Amino acid sequence: MGELMKGLKRSLMCGEVNESMVGKEVTLMGWVKRRRVLSQLTFILLRDRTGVVQAVIDETTADSEIVKKEKSIRSEYVVAIRGHVQLRDEININEDMKTGKVEISVDELRILSESETTPFPIEDTVNVNTELRLKYRYLDLRRNVVAKNIIARHEICRIVRNFLSDEGFIEIETPQLTKSTPEGARDYLVPSRVHQGNFYALPQSPQLFKQLLMVSGFDKYFQITKCFRDEDLRADRQPEFTQIDMELSFVDTEDVIEVNERLIKKVFKEIKGIDIKIPFERMPYCEAMERFGSDKPDVRFGLELKNITDIVNGSDFQVFQNAIDAGGSVRGINAEGLGSLPRKQIDLLVETAKTYGAKGLAWISVIDDGYKTTLSKFFDNDKLKEIADMFNAKTGDLILICADKNQIVFDALGALRIEAAKRLDLIKSDDYKFLWVTEFPLLEWSEEENRFTAKHHPFTSPMDEDLDILETNPEKVRAKAYDMVLNGCELGGGSIRIYDRDIQERMFKALGFTKEDAQERFGFLLNAFKYGAPPHGGLAFGLDRIVMLITGSESIRDVIAFPKVKDASCLLTLAPNVVDKKQLDELGIFIKN
Ligand code: AMO
Ligand code: AMP
Repeated sequence: MGELMKGLKRSLMCGEVNESMVGKEVTLMGWVKRRRVLSQLTFILLRDRTGVVQAVIDETTADSEIVKKEKSIRSEYVVAIRGHVQLRDEININEDMKTGKVEISVDELRILSESETTPFPIEDTVNVNTELRLKYRYLDLRRNVVAKNIIARHEICRIVRNFLSDEGFIEIETPQLTKSTPEGARDYLVPSRVHQGNFYALPQSPQLFKQLLMVSGFDKYFQITKCFRDEDLRADRQPEFTQIDMELSFVDTEDVIEVNERLIKKVFKEIKGIDIKIPFERMPYCEAMERFGSDKPDVRFGLELKNITDIVNGSDFQVFQNAIDAGGSVRGINAEGLGSLPRKQIDLLVETAKTYGAKGLAWISVIDDGYKTTLSKFFDNDKLKEIADMFNAKTGDLILICADKNQIVFDALGALRIEAAKRLDLIKSDDYKFLWVTEFPLLEWSEEENRFTAKHHPFTSPMDEDLDILETNPEKVRAKAYDMVLNGCELGGGSIRIYDRDIQERMFKALGFTKEDAQERFGFLLNAFKYGAPPHGGLAFGLDRIVMLITGSESIRDVIAFPKVKDASCLLTLAPNVVDKKQLDELGIFIKN
């Protein structure tokens, strides 16, 4: 220990000082939040990650050495204070501060480390841009509002670890330098020096390894682990993120759902003191799309989608008719009460729809004596009434209608539904509506690859009821897959896996893989399945998303100590960066431009 600390030992944390300690000696260490002088009294607000406490030095009675040192103190200096806890005068009590009834009368003061002026003040609310905060993230993390998210994250991990351990799960690490896993995003690749021209992939998830662990007989596995996906970033997506990953043997969907409901219930109880009702509501994928235009619906509010294809079919309006003739649909939502939205605002909604691929948006505003609408040229009042009735629309309502391929209609209206709810102030932040979305399609058609791809991954089991149509009607086959959704956010997802070799072969065929393709990509797993694969299934949560929702943060960035920004770079370290030619030579890599 350095000379400066000699003879001093911290006795407690700043946020822990309280009235029961009045008269006692304490030794605190931390950062100076602020130094304030009031005639002969100097106040030092001392901060550590647990909170802030006030220390006071009376110039008239204090040791001259202390007074001298105290005068040189600046914000963010690291200091040690030994002193006595005393009650504050009645008028100086600060109810907003955890330690606001007491203060420390300083007997000894040591400056342990100095600080330059920080690029922004370390206050709970700072008016600085995100870039600067992230460049100096270590200072940003000194702010209690940010630090408390990181601490909540730790608490959540601890609860999860304890819960799963108590349930008989075994935590096992799986490789980070591995082979591409079939999670559907782009891989981050790591070049091999020893095997030039070959690459490891960073795992998008531990999927294949956890299935291998089931073959090994570990029975119940879990891991809190980093996953890497090179995809476009959004508020709830980072290129490296953390999964609470698990797999169980000899289970069906009900078993996986049951243990995870109890896990989430426990986390919410211990962190927020909220009693979440289990079991959660369940909703088949088709219903979620039809009613909410989303496979992760926010069910805190209504504004549900309605299908008006049959009502408008056969009209002269080419936009609607073309969509219908091409196998699409015409649907809408009733933004109840937004009927008097100014034209400019409606145009913004149209623009929102367009960002989801819609070519346009029709609207009907219900007024006292009829309708104001973009559709007046094509539909008479009776038809408009028929449409309005479908939405139970009344005077003052605004119906938004989109015609296109189903997926575009769902995406656009799903987004407008949320937008409208925000404008109507229908979303309560302290309302937690959990939901399992089930019966996902097993396959989806990829225009890009001109074949079916697995919606979840190639090892997800089809539903028994749909096995018969795997060859004849693949797009209709539903999977034993489930997502846990909270307030419009996908917290986690998983499935029961295929362990029957015959079904696995049929699945590969449906995906257009030859035997050789499958062997090349997943040979090690298929081989393992030859030696006694138990029925198994599992799930993975996005830890960052759970922490984001529990802490009420707007982005997962706020709950990650050192997050990346939109272009996947790190503003603190400036990664990714160029490397020495020597390093590239060793790897046999030549940069094209
Ligand atoms: P999935 O791909 O659904 O499933 O991922 C599981 C959960 O991980 C979170 N997540 C992310 N969080 C932050 N940033 C990202 N880029 C990101 N991508 C995903 C989500 C998601 O629900 N192996 C399967 C699980 C299984 O079948 O057991 C898997 O990875 O919250
Ligand atoms: P346009 O022919 O693009 O000027 O469109 C005429 C009107 O049709 C627009 O004002 C919209 O109200 C409506 N419209 C256009 N495209 C769509 C669409 N895909 N879905 C619903 N309405 C649309």
